[in-house]
Amino acid sequence: MNALLEIQDLEVAYRSTAGRECGALAGVSFEVYPGEILGVLGESGSGKSTLAAALLRLLPPNGKFRKGTVRFEGQDLLRARQRELQKVRGGRIGLIFQEPSMALHPTIRTGEQISSVIAAHQALDRRALREKTLQVLAKVFSADANRIAESYPHQLSGGQRQRVLLAQAIACSPALIIADEPTASLDPSTQQDILELLRTLRDQLHCAMILITHNPAILAGLADRILVLYAGKVAEIGPASEVFGSPQHPYTRALLKCLPPPLTENLRPRKSKLTVIPGESPNLQQLANGCRFEPRCTDRMDVCTTSEPAETSLSRHHAVSCFRYGG
Ligand SMILES: Nc1ncnc2c1ncn2[C@@H]1O[C@H](COP(=O)(O)OP(=O)(O)OP(=O)(O)O)[C@@H](O)[C@H]1O
Ligand SMILES: [Mg+2]
Repeated sequence: MNALLEIQDLEVAYRSTAGRECGALAGVSFEVYPGEILGVLGESGSGKSTLAAALLRLLPPNGKFRKGTVRFEGQDLLRARQRELQKVRGGRIGLIFQEPSMALHPTIRTGEQISSVIAAHQALDRRALREKTLQVLAKVFSADANRIAESYPHQLSGGQRQRVLLAQAIACSPALIIADEPTASLDPSTQQDILELLRTLRDQLHCAMILITHNPAILAGLADRILVLYAGKVAEIGPASEVFGSPQHPYTRALLKCLPPPLTENLRPRKSKLTVIPGESPNLQQLANGCRFEPRCTDRMDVCTTSEPAETSLSRHHAVSCFRYGG
């Protein structure tokens, strides 16, 4: 199957006000195939949101592409003209930003906000636009599409706002949806509803998804493949069953060990200590030679302090960047 999205050797840096460069992504390469859910997993600061913004050339002014290509449906997005890019943004690729409260305009009714996305991509008269907006809302709300369309964002709950953002993302039947921490601010039950909705939308619309999160539990049972990002580099990528069932990179293993144990039957936490990964992510402005995870790695070897490991294929679809496997 041909890839829908192909990222090759992507390198992105931010310039601080003091003029220092911080390399947020380095040598990131991966593909997304039609209809699949790729989960992007990593700690805070690993570059997940930078990746989402970079794919659509939405980096802030101090963010720069240093290297790489982003090909989507055969088109080179990093070199595409603004007009072409506008067709892709919100049209062929729907993006859900990390911060739901920032993503909706507070003084515009939600229906109008969805209509404006549709109108940017399709020439429809007022009536058809209204009809299409209600149809899109009906895909994410089981009832009340009319009321939701008439509401202002502050009149909706967090879960309802997240559904409106999803409606915006699917409004133009995209081939790919990028959802950055779509459930981070929601309670566990609403989180589950939104995750279930994402799965339903993928099945109904046959679109691919990049689902970004710091929480492996969000991706379990939902993502087809997992990409683990550490300090701007791909640590491991592979089918979810392999990455979760038999994680190979020491960082992936450590990350999965940090998951809290399930509650006991009487809803008390089990009496085991929560595990954390000792140490901190490296300062991206002052990277030492060697593997970025080396200072925190329990499996480190001498070579890990002097050079960075390259990606090694473990099987056709599973690769890891670690000297333990070649590097
Ligand atoms: N606008 C910016 N200017 C300068 N540095 C930035 C900017 N945005 C992000 N960074 C830096 O780039 C790195 C990656 O940040 P990014 O927001 O992509 O991480 P993230 O994985 O999305 O984190 P989180 O889980 O907290 O959302 C971090 O070191 C961050 O401090
Ligand atoms: Mg982020």
